[in-house]
Parts: sequence; C-alpha cells; structure tokens
Amino acid sequence: MKMFFVLVAGFAAATALAGDGFSVAYPEGYRDWRHVKSMELKPGHPLYESFGGLHHIYANSKAVKGYKSGKFQDGAMIVFDLLEAKNEENALVEGKRKVLGVMARDAKRYPETGGWGFEGFAGGDPAKPVVGKNAVKVCFECHASQRGNNYLFSSLRD
Ligand code: HEC
Repeated sequence: MKMFFVLVAGFAAATALAGDGFSVAYPEGYRDWRHVKSMELKPGHPLYESFGGLHHIYANSKAVKGYKSGKFQDGAMIVFDLLEAKNEENALVEGKRKVLGVMARDAKRYPETGGWGFEGFAGGDPAKPVVGKNAVKVCFECHASQRGNNYLFSSLRD
C-alpha cells in the first residue's frame, strides 16, 4: 500500500514538472559552458530590430555531444546571450545584456516546437521570461527553417 502512494506521488510530481509544455528553466551556470561562437548584428541587418547587438552562443556538455553527433539528447541546452554592442574608441565592447535566449531539449515535453523548449529572459533576469506559450510564433517559426539541422542555425567551430 505504501508503495502505491509513493508511485502516485511520483506521478503527480512528474506531471506538475511537465507543466504546460512550454516553460523552460533558467540555464544556471551557462557562462561555464562551451562557447560555440559569437556574432554582431549591426543596424541594417534584417534581424536588427529583435536581435541587434553582440551575441554569444553557449552549449552545455549534452549539447556539445549533440552538435558533434547530430543527435541531441534530452537535457541538452543552448544559450543565445545577447548584449548591447558599443563602439568605444574604435573598439567593439559589450554593453548591457538585452536578452538571454534558451533552447532546452526534451523531445516529449516540447512536441509543438520540434522537441526544443524556447524561452527568452529579459535582461538575463531569471524572473522575467518573455516567451512562454508564444514560443511557436516568437521563436519556432524561424528556427523551423533549420529542420534538417535539428532546428539549429549554428555549428561548432574549432
Ligand atoms: C527571424 C529568425 C529567428 C527568430 C525569430 C529566433 N531566432 Fe534564434 N537564431 C536565429 C539565427 C539566425 C541564429 C544563429 C545565430 C548565429 O549563428 O550566431 C539563432 C540562434 C539561436 C540559438 C543558438 C542555437 C542555434 O540555433 O544556432 C538559440 C538558443 C536561439 N537562437 C534561441 C532563440 C529563441 C529563444 C527565440 C525566441 C525568443 C529565437 N531564437 C528566435 C534566428 C532566429
């Protein structure tokens, strides 16, 4: 009997965790992950409005394996860290963080968005998720073009 209750409680917890199929956890410790690449979008770039500035992409160890093998396991996470880009005496320097974009792999939990959860944290603040249930419109419709590449644009470089 006791076992039964343990099972039921476990199931309830798992269901609560699964949530609405959209929420994505803040990527704790991502600054210690593997740096994949950086890029600056300047005024005049078609995506400047949304993603203008300097971004760095980071991958956790499961995501590094995924980039290498072409198959991403659940738990893989990739971060798009977007900062303001400033010109200071002919040097490009990082300004304030604009948004922290996250893709979190969980094939069962995020069926509507290719098995990836998408979220953005305004100013990098874990308390300010800005995407939520709008992930299909705000993120996935663009990433869907990369279907043949696990919905990713970037790849690892040396
Ligand atoms: C209009 C197209 C577009 C939209 C909308 C978009 N992205 Fe991206 N995303 C890109 C491109 C292009 C890259 C590759 C940037 C690079 O190579 O440095 C990218 C890269 C990423 C990456 C790194 C993994 C990869 O695919 O290379 C993450 C994480 C990411 N985006 C998250 C998001 C999130 C979260 C949203 C929604 C808030 C979003 N993106 C919306 C175009 C888009």
